[in-house]
Amino acid sequence: PLTLYTSIASIRQWRREQANQRKSVAMIPTMGALHAGHASLIRSAARTHNSLVISIFVNPAQFAPHEDLSRYPRTLTADIKQLEALNAELSSPGFPSKGRIEALFVPSVPEMYPSGIPLQQELQKGAFVTVTPLSSRLEGITRPHFFRGVATVCMKLFNILQPDEAYFGQKDVQQTVVLRRMVGDLHVPTKIRVEDTIREEDGLAMSSRNVYLGEKRRGFAVCLYRALKAAEEAYLQEVAKGAAVIPRWVLTEPAEKILAEAGSDEVRTETEYFSVACPRELEELEQVDVNVGAVLSGAVRMLAAQEGEGPVRIIDNIILKGK
Ligand code: PAJ
Repeated sequence: PLTLYTSIASIRQWRREQANQRKSVAMIPTMGALHAGHASLIRSAARTHNSLVISIFVNPAQFAPHEDLSRYPRTLTADIKQLEALNAELSSPGFPSKGRIEALFVPSVPEMYPSGIPLQQELQKGAFVTVTPLSSRLEGITRPHFFRGVATVCMKLFNILQPDEAYFGQKDVQQTVVLRRMVGDLHVPTKIRVEDTIREEDGLAMSSRNVYLGEKRRGFAVCLYRALKAAEEAYLQEVAKGAAVIPRWVLTEPAEKILAEAGSDEVRTETEYFSVACPRELEELEQVDVNVGAVLSGAVRMLAAQEGEGPVRIIDNIILKGK
């Protein structure tokens, strides 16, 4: 049975019981509005671990004052239903599962931030985790406080739950790089696992924020994935020809062409960045060494197409694996 915990003291008690029963614990941190991307992390975790704990916490510290904290979709009842359905699937005879979802952790903001509610960056008080300079690249250029919020809340969750492993999606590639660096540098005993991006049929990466798109913009939202695929294809063609290093422009030119032509009279898109970066440091590359590979990533702003909509940011990435 899936139990809901809202206090740190009670989830810690649950954690101690798992340890006493020699159960391995996997954690899947989320902000809720669960979709197939989250479900895929849960299925992977259940293959390896006995007890799964899902957290649902819309973390104010990773939203800037102008961002969508108050509008972020909150669907706890539907989320619980989804988790229960997943548990039924995990215990069905056909599924190669070792464990199931045992705990759902849904803390309040004051429980997670005892020194204050970090709504406005100037007013933040207390202890924070900063991973530098990784956090100021790519997403960090337009969202300077974002990864401090992510690293801090994950550190809190890891300290509260002490999971053996924590599962994250490739979808948010910089998040995985920042968190791997954090647990490495701070000697956190939790291992970070990264699972593939789950996509809609047309290729759009699933995201809780896709509900903001509305009908008109939805069809055009796949432009970033198409651009990434075009860059990947150009890369693979060069590799097949035996190239050892591939200049950046060979990848960015086809991608930028797709992004420039994206949208319509009604649906306008703006490319925030299209990046070709090294996998460890996320530094921009002038050329890709085929032995090392690269991270292709981007962000596109889809401007409002009708009354009542706000702009929606789409992010996505593809890893070019080194040989
Ligand atoms: P959230 O956006 O809810 O995502 C929770 C986890 O699901 C993250 O690891 C994210 O990368 C993964 N995920 C999201 N969409 C995915 C997709 N299409 N395919 C595979 N995995 C996907 O990311 C966060 O929340 C927060 O930053 C959090 C880590 C919870 C810290 O607040």
